[in-house]
Amino acid sequence: MSFLTELKRTHRCGDLRTADVGQEVVLFGWVASRRDHGGVIFVDLRDRGGLTQVFFDPSIAKDAHGLAEQMRSEYVIGVRGVVVSRGSNINPKLPTGDIEIEVRTATIFNAAKPPPFPIKDHIDCSEDLRLKFRYLDLRRRPLQECLMTRSRINGITRNFLTDNGFLELETPILTKATPEGARDYLVPSRVHPGEFYALPQSPQLFKQLFMVAGYDRYFQICRCFRDEDLRADRQPEFTQIDIEMSFIEPEDVFAVIEGLLSRIWKEVKGLDLVLPFPRMSYATAMAKYGSDKPDLRFGLELHDVSDLVGGVEFGVFRETVAAGGKVGAIRLPGGKLSRAQIDALPEVVKIHHAKGLAWARQRAEGWQSPIAKFVPAEVQAQINDRVGGLETEDLVFFVADRQKVVYDALGALRLHLAKLCGLIPADVYNFLWVTEFPAFEYDEKDKRWFAMHHPFTSPRLDQVHLLETDPGQVMARAYDVVLNGMELGGGSIRIHDSHVQQAVFALLGLTPEESQKKFGFLLEALAYGTPPHGGIALGMDRLVMLLTGGESIRDVIAFPKTQKASCSMTAAPSTVDQAQLDEVHIRLKPT
Ligand code: AMO
Ligand code: AMP
Repeated sequence: MSFLTELKRTHRCGDLRTADVGQEVVLFGWVASRRDHGGVIFVDLRDRGGLTQVFFDPSIAKDAHGLAEQMRSEYVIGVRGVVVSRGSNINPKLPTGDIEIEVRTATIFNAAKPPPFPIKDHIDCSEDLRLKFRYLDLRRRPLQECLMTRSRINGITRNFLTDNGFLELETPILTKATPEGARDYLVPSRVHPGEFYALPQSPQLFKQLFMVAGYDRYFQICRCFRDEDLRADRQPEFTQIDIEMSFIEPEDVFAVIEGLLSRIWKEVKGLDLVLPFPRMSYATAMAKYGSDKPDLRFGLELHDVSDLVGGVEFGVFRETVAAGGKVGAIRLPGGKLSRAQIDALPEVVKIHHAKGLAWARQRAEGWQSPIAKFVPAEVQAQINDRVGGLETEDLVFFVADRQKVVYDALGALRLHLAKLCGLIPADVYNFLWVTEFPAFEYDEKDKRWFAMHHPFTSPRLDQVHLLETDPGQVMARAYDVVLNGMELGGGSIRIHDSHVQQAVFALLGLTPEESQKKFGFLLEALAYGTPPHGGIALGMDRLVMLLTGGESIRDVIAFPKTQKASCSMTAAPSTVDQAQLDEVHIRLKPT
């Protein structure tokens, strides 16, 4: 008879405490480590619940001890034994550290090859190797904790939204392109030669169609697919908490999200979030922080000094202002930077196309700066006031350029300085709603307008008439929720009038025929009694990452893709047989 048939698991490896001493227990798990103390063998037994020390004493259980001699790291074993106190040998680092198991019988379910990296909390090994053996990586405690937290967040989200009258509904994965600004992943059709499905970049249109159908208050924890350049906070497939509601204003969406996030933070972190979250217009966010997702955990705000420097001798400032550009400044209190550190800073702003970074350090006698002699003392004093008062040793940095470059460059410098000088407090969660986004952006390269959110976002109702005459002035009824400088989610009130939707498509360069071909089903649906509606989607991966303090969303996705959108473990994407290509009517271009 096998161990499993005779004995059922009584506990997981993180469960047992002093109160359990004397109990007979059955534990299953992996050998995390094995120490042979000349006679008695100690094994740390691991499962996803934790770690328990078990020992095999030959004078108590000879057969089990014999098996323990064969055990090696990552062997899968089962033990039956008695919980005993560790007496003076307690391990305060382990939740189960007060007890151990005196083994009576044991089994080896399976042997294991030595793992290519140690299964420990902190390891020094390439991410690629970890991804190739992800099932081993996932045995490590930090990853287990992330995924267990992720599972809890899923549960809390479902409960919260269901309790608040939301329906959990599914939408197709094989579908038609929904533009969210990235490229589509395409799936060829076998039965329709030359035709393709697109994997959804989001369920945007389907959730709107649920509103047309009257399924007010929808949610879905759904997978989205976007073929875009990957970064630490972007994966080609990722998960959204997707929400849509009818007969609402933005404030109604804010209230749902604030309720959901505060429930998650309370249950997972034991923290009470301050509600409501602050709100800030896009224009203010850009002007004060140089970013539409400002990190509010520290100051270092941007200041516009263009009006003060138009007449100075320093040519870069004077000429930029004369050409209609801007000069922005950031004050760094305390002047903690060395000259070498200051000299390295232009690299940070050059990534964002700034041509240089001017700076000054306040001394008792005035500015110490390469540009001091080109900026008169009275202008220096005005600038000092403008940036919030420059005390002795404080530094001030300047970028002169087009408005966008000034914002981007100083926004990036702000973050860089905060990290460099250790100004970002740990365990602080600063949420923010960013509102009043422009609806459209003009792309100089493509010579056309793009929707800043997506083309289904409603313009401000009193500005609809500007769609044809002055689209750059039109504000969107869109909002983002930002946490510690990361865009956690975004949404909007949607267009529910077929004519307005058509006008927006026209502005974005779609001919009436193209609009019909791509979005005819939406335009038609809008004409059949569509309620005013809106919603939002939160990035689940980013949410879990921020909650667990991860550096990359790859850390909170069980089986993520590499930076090159491939899977190191399965080697996807991969070539396929000619027969499979033939079936879907695809002939490859010779390479
Ligand atoms: P948006 O495109 O802003 O809006 O996406 C919403 C949120 O999804 C997350 N996200 C990503 N996470 C990981 N990897 C990616 N590649 C990625 N792309 C986006 C972000 C982002 O804030 N349909 C609209 C929502 C709506 O209007 O209701 C949408 O998808 O956290
Ligand atoms: P230059 O005259 O190019 O040697 O620049 C003098 C100083 O001004 C250097 O510290 C440059 O980094 C800085 N600088 C140059 N261009 C800009 C700019 N567009 N904005 C801010 N500082 C600049």
